Amino acid sequence: MIRNIETILKSVPTIEGAGVHLKRAFGNSEVPLLDPFLLLDDFHSNNPEDYIAGFPWHPHRGIETVTYVLEGSVEHGDSMGNKGIIESGDVQWMTGGSGIIHQEMPKGDNGSIWGFQLWVNLPSSHKMMVPRYREVKNDQIPEVIGENNSTIRIISGEVGNTRGPVQDIIVDIEYLDVTIPSFTEFKHNIRQGYRAFAYVIEGSGFFDQDEPASIGGEHLVIFSDGDEVTISTHDERLRFLLISGKPIGEPVAWAGPIVMNTQEELATAFEEYRNGTFIKNSIYSEKPINID
Ligand code: CO
Repeated sequence: MIRNIETILKSVPTIEGAGVHLKRAFGNSEVPLLDPFLLLDDFHSNNPEDYIAGFPWHPHRGIETVTYVLEGSVEHGDSMGNKGIIESGDVQWMTGGSGIIHQEMPKGDNGSIWGFQLWVNLPSSHKMMVPRYREVKNDQIPEVIGENNSTIRIISGEVGNTRGPVQDIIVDIEYLDVTIPSFTEFKHNIRQGYRAFAYVIEGSGFFDQDEPASIGGEHLVIFSDGDEVTISTHDERLRFLLISGKPIGEPVAWAGPIVMNTQEELATAFEEYRNGTFIKNSIYSEKPINID
């Protein structure tokens, strides 16, 4: 069965971190619409004033964050002692689990930055797992040529016999960056029962063959259930993120960078953060930075 468009959302200008101007495709107010996904931010700017303040030291618990950089770079460091630069084409997959404190500082390339951060929820059984961190370099991400000369970068999941480098994720996720030429059609199987969405990066296209209107940049398409998507183009090339995952179906208690199942668990997290016992699994010896 072909998946049709269930909902279209336009990303909303939002200020995050220490004053970063970004576009939010979905977030707190859309819960539980995109279960197992919680948030998708599109940070795209040619003006350093929009992003240079970055995301100084802050905690995460109960979620995984996936950062994918298209232009410019993001410098990061965390309470597990990881440090590095996510460069153009790279992906950082961070499992906050029981708690991680990190900072993420965007750096422009000739002034411009472009990237995405996706938050994937963790089920209650794994919210307090040992944090994990994976950095995937641009050249480790396979790009396959599909039918009609579509190109598919596989960050996570499997296309044909090619598997993406991000594996052993707690929630089963497929994360693809797809480009299709003008006047072509792209078909892709997505497991029935999984939540699936597309976010347009460049150009415009048709995500539902019964819908006459094309959908362009900064728009999110949420698909109805089914086992296949059919996406087509007219005179423009189309690039989009195509992401799907298995819903968790649990209550969501969310405050800032921490997402748990109950208000009590949230209160505990913030209390631990204040009294310095937030980090459970760390080689980091310095005291966490106070965010109050
Ligand atoms: Co963060």
